[in-house]
Amino acid sequence: MQPKLKSKVRSADSDVGEVRRVIMDPLSHEVSHIVVGGDGVGVIERQVPIGQVQSVTEDLVTLRCTGAEYAALPAFKREDYVTTHEVEIAHLEERIHVTPGEVLVPFPELERSVKRRTFFANFTHAIGFLIGFPLAFPVLRYLMKPMYAPFDNGWLTIGNASKIKQEDVGVQYKYKRKVKEAYMPEQEIDKNIWVLKATPKVLESVYQGKDMEFRDADGKHVWTNKKDVPYVAYSGKCPHLGCGFKWRTHKTLGQVFLCPCHLSIYDAAGKVLDGPAPRALDPLPIKVTATGDIAIIDMEFKAGTKAQVRIV
Ligand code: FES
Repeated sequence: MQPKLKSKVRSADSDVGEVRRVIMDPLSHEVSHIVVGGDGVGVIERQVPIGQVQSVTEDLVTLRCTGAEYAALPAFKREDYVTTHEVEIAHLEERIHVTPGEVLVPFPELERSVKRRTFFANFTHAIGFLIGFPLAFPVLRYLMKPMYAPFDNGWLTIGNASKIKQEDVGVQYKYKRKVKEAYMPEQEIDKNIWVLKATPKVLESVYQGKDMEFRDADGKHVWTNKKDVPYVAYSGKCPHLGCGFKWRTHKTLGQVFLCPCHLSIYDAAGKVLDGPAPRALDPLPIKVTATGDIAIIDMEFKAGTKAQVRIV
């Protein structure tokens, strides 16, 4: 029979307390010690080897030692043990029948020295980093250079303004652009933007009475759209999540830009009328020659953000 929790514990000559916990040997899966304690302030819980247990009955554990010998046994140190809820021991329940209560196993020695081991592991990593970084840095710089290439601010001619027949109506211009992703071969992709010949009212709504400046990532001035030039170009990507939008007639709102993905709606000035879009359509740098050729700087901005953050 295994010692039960709360069973009285008696030494050869006196009562010494009750069973508070049992400690098992994680290898043999046998009870190796019982922890005996008593009521009262300052009563020390002691760890009794199972070899000192003479007999176990339903509610009494009898020890071989005397009360004086019991008092000389080591005090129980809880921090040296973990419960069997904290460590997984297979088939434990088939061997130990102490319920309900704490079954403990010794805290593994390796885990006890984990701080020291962690320190040495970190120390080794730090030394490795100090030696390796100066060697790896030129390679890293070479590899990462394409990812931090400056934006392409070249002008692209996308078509002629003669295609625009009516003011305040969005007209789509499609064009091809060569792109070179880091480490990938250069490829040509299809893109589009929307251009509007705006009335003064729409221009006022787009520019709010001020010229619109475009700057590079480092703050260098790239171009200024003059507030009284009637042609306005919008990036073809919806600022919500980047879908392509269309110029459509809406039942109640009239002619609008409508994004089919999540139904964001923008007016001719690019302002959000409805839907989840976090900001207005993104105007692009535009210039129109005397012969009507439209050129833009192809920029893209991060989708889903209130602020306009250039990414291309
Ligand atoms: S991507 Fe246009 S509304 Fe969501």
